[in-house]
Parts: sequence; C-alpha cells; structure tokens
Amino acid sequence: DAQKSGFKHFMLKEIFEEPMCLVSVMTGRIKNGKVHFEELEGLKERLKNINFVKVVACGTSYHAALSFKYFLENLSDVNVDAEISSEFRYKRQHLKPNDVVIAISQSGETADTLESVRLAKRQGATVVAITNVVGSTLSRESDFTLYLNAGPEISVAATKSYVSQITLLYLLALKIMEIKGIWDEKHEGLIDRLLRMPEIFEKFLDQVDNIHQIAAKYKDFKHFMYIGRGYGYPTALEGALKLKEISYIHATAYPAGELKHGPIAMLGPDFPVFAVAPNDFLFSKTKSNIIECRSRKARIVLLTNEGNEEAFELADDVIFVSNSIDELYPILMTPAIQLFAYYVADELGLDPDKPRNLAKSVTVE
Ligand code: AGP
Repeated sequence: DAQKSGFKHFMLKEIFEEPMCLVSVMTGRIKNGKVHFEELEGLKERLKNINFVKVVACGTSYHAALSFKYFLENLSDVNVDAEISSEFRYKRQHLKPNDVVIAISQSGETADTLESVRLAKRQGATVVAITNVVGSTLSRESDFTLYLNAGPEISVAATKSYVSQITLLYLLALKIMEIKGIWDEKHEGLIDRLLRMPEIFEKFLDQVDNIHQIAAKYKDFKHFMYIGRGYGYPTALEGALKLKEISYIHATAYPAGELKHGPIAMLGPDFPVFAVAPNDFLFSKTKSNIIECRSRKARIVLLTNEGNEEAFELADDVIFVSNSIDELYPILMTPAIQLFAYYVADELGLDPDKPRNLAKSVTVE
C-alpha cells in the first residue's frame, strides 16, 4: 500500500505519473528547439536516405507503433510498416542490410518481439530498441537502445509507458525528419507543444471526476465499440484493449470508415460506441459515422477537444481534452481512455492491477 502513494491501485498511480514521465522522456532530448539522441550517433548516416522503417511490437506497444506510423508517414516521405511481432516472426521477411527495424517493448522481455529482433538481425537489418527496462534482453540484443525512463510500471495494464512510447517515437520521427532535411516551422511548433504537454496533462488529471461519472454509467454494458479515424484510430484500439483487459467487457475497435463494412450490424441500444474524434481535419467524416451509430440507437461517448460545439448534440456523454494540433491528440487523449477503463473496472469491483489470465510480460509465446 505504501508503494501506491495513497492511490487505490497502481494503475491509477501510474496514470497520475504521466506528466512526470513526459518530462523524463524529453529530458536531455530537446535542446534549442531540436531533438537530440546521443544514443543514435552511429545511425545518423543510415537515416539520411531512409525511406522505409519496419516496426515490431505487441499489445499496447503495437498501438504506439501505429501512432508513429501515422505521424511519420503524414509528415515525411518515409513509409512505416508496423507489424505485430507474433505475425512478423512467422512470415517470410524481405529485409535488406540497410533496413532499420524498431522494436518496441515496455518490458524488453516479450518473447515474440525478441524473436522478431533475432530474425531481423539474421537478415542484416539494424535494430533500434525502445524499452523501459535497462539491461533487458531486448536492449542487450539490439544495436541501439532508447530508454523510456518512465520508472517501474507495476500494473499489468500498460499506461504511463504508452504515453512515453508515443512521445519518444514522435521525437525519433522528428529526428529522422531533421536528418533528412525535412524541417520547418511546423516541426518547431510540434516541439514547442510537446514541451508544454506535462502541464496540459496535469490540468487534465485535475478533472477526472467527469470520466469517473461517465464510466459508472456504462459499467453494466456487455459490449463496446471504439471508433476513430487517422490519429484517432490507434487511440481507439488502445481504448478497447484497456477496457477488455481490466473490465472483461467485450470491446472492439475499428477505423470509423469500416463500420459500414460489417461492424455496424452489431450496434443497438445495448452496444454503445466510444468515439475518439478530435475536431481535426477528419472530424466531419467521423461525425457522419457517429450519426449513423445514433440512428441504430447506440449510445455515444465522445472523446474530443474543447471548443467542439457539436459535441453535446452528437453524443450522450462527452470527455474533453485541451485543444491541440492534430498530430498530438494520440498523446493528449491517452489518459482519457485509460481512466475510462480504470473507473469501469473499479466500479465493477475488479482489481485492474491484476487482471485474470494476464501477466505483465509475456515471456513465452
Ligand atoms: C497492455 O496493457 C498489456 N499489458 C499488453 O498488451 C502489453 O502491452 C504487451 O504484452 C506488450 O508488452 P511489452 O511492451 O512489455 O512488450
């Protein structure tokens, strides 16, 4: 209990540590408006002409990989192929000696990710590890390691490590772009906003009561559909994973545009929708999907940003985050999806720190 510092569960404590984690992951890595990775000095030449990066990871770490894909692909000419490690390792790979593979694992011990790294190295690729655990197998077997510096994560549900992973991956993407000569005011603006993120998180975490109340209303549903587009999609996937792993409520996530291709058939009064929809350039598209869900009488929880005047018209319940730029919503919206899942589980009397059938690190396949 002493280690929980007054919080009911480690999961809640770790969510509240996120502002601190954001500081830790950026410390020493941003100087004079530019990104610095001393650890990657030996990779600089390779990154100059890079136009493809492979990323391997599992679970929550894979969702961080997807956010990286959207970010780097939208802002540069680099293609990012994010693949789940357990699929990557059993498929024929076509890596070349100049290829860079990024392996993401909080624990650094996930069996499938380690095997993926071994396979990539056998094909001559260079492996960059992103992990939270110093001296982990992943860090020992990779060519370069970037640490999350998030501190120990005790709860089985990954929370603070996810925020740190996305932030670190964004910094890495910015570094790649700088090395490739893709750099303008937009990139400077992004760095500026990232530096302000810890403060924005603190402010957000001051108002968790709203999320708690909404979670209490939805705790008895047996199903949940998470939807999102663009940057909202990886967040929707992570929201659904968090909810199912700690509350045992069936949750599924789809790109909002996929609803019509099948999943919408399931929706109705007993199947609510959690829409991750910042008021970004895709909002009007997601809005039409929300309206379609409502016409099936599905209840809507909308996660959006302040100032979205249509929010209450569209949804039964709304969670607001601060206004930001499109690229940063995957970071900003993360505590909201985590807290929603946490409070649902807690309201159901479940222990989110030790979900049934799950281990913190999956060291066997
Ligand atoms: C997330 O809440 C889960 N505990 C799980 O999906 C986890 O992210 C996955 O097992 C990967 O773990 P890793 O990051 O330590 O490799």
